[in-house]
Amino acid sequence: MNDKIASHGAERTFSDSEQLISSTDVDSTIRDCNDHFVNISGFTRDELIGQKHNIVRHNDMPAKAFLGLWTYILEGKPWMGIVKNRCKNGDYYWVDAYITPIFSNGKITGFESVRRKPKKEDVARASKLYARLKAGKGIPKFSKVRKREVFLLLSSLALAALLGGVLQALGFSSLSWVGVLGGLIGYAGVWYSNRRDLKGLLEHMPHAFRDDTAMLTYTEDSGLYGQVKISILSDAAHLNTVVTRLEHGAQDVAEQASEAHVLSTQATNECVISRLKLSRWPRLFMK
Ligand SMILES: Cc1cc2nc3c(=O)[nH]c(=O)nc-3n(C[C@H](O)[C@H](O)[C@H](O)COP(=O)(O)O)c2cc1C
Repeated sequence: MNDKIASHGAERTFSDSEQLISSTDVDSTIRDCNDHFVNISGFTRDELIGQKHNIVRHNDMPAKAFLGLWTYILEGKPWMGIVKNRCKNGDYYWVDAYITPIFSNGKITGFESVRRKPKKEDVARASKLYARLKAGKGIPKFSKVRKREVFLLLSSLALAALLGGVLQALGFSSLSWVGVLGGLIGYAGVWYSNRRDLKGLLEHMPHAFRDDTAMLTYTEDSGLYGQVKISILSDAAHLNTVVTRLEHGAQDVAEQASEAHVLSTQATNECVISRLKLSRWPRLFMK
């Protein structure tokens, strides 16, 4: 059924401030979800709770994306990625998902997904990547060397050659080669020092996210710059999830406190009333 309706649906979007949250047990059965998740899905809460999470799976999503997801979360590690979901009527919506395992006494007891509105460029990139994977082609091999680096190398070469030419024209023929060589050595020095700094940064993030397929939904750079970008993004998503949980925890505590306040006021009132009733008895006997 998914296959037939999926490709004809219209896109639904949600606001930057909304987060679509769902939590599951270990076999992906939905145990809870927030109103935003219910509203966009077109299902009722009752239709979602108790169902496997693939109820919102869109047919354009390649199996490889979910393979990475499950490999990560079953190992107790968070996963992030750009995901296209289907609504009940065949419409669809894109999310930037961050899924974390939930532990109790050191064991995984379930998972939680916090989804935010994705960036347009990430959706465009993911869309292309997933179409490619669905067509049976592999993950594209992006060059580890950035276009900007190649451009800078060629520009410095051209500049060095120009400088060499000028020096030669001025009669400093031996110096012209020194100019070209100097330019090249200078460029290599800057390039090497940049890479060393980036590697140093990555050493501070040994647990950073590395799922190949998911990474390519956030960046076309599979080299060091791409890895640093993903590490920063996954740290930010992690922080957002922690803050969201704290907010929910604080809300629960506030609700419980207000219930406790109502109960204690009721108990106090009942106590006062029964004391008043008791204090009337002696007067009745005295009459
Ligand atoms: C907490 C959690 C949230 C998930 N959220 C989604 C989701 O929003 N969309 C989706 O297609 N799959 C989601 N999945 C993955 C599904 O369980 C499932 O692996 C996927 O839809 C692929 O379906 P299939 O295994 O039937 O091919 C989620 C899994 C977990 C544990």
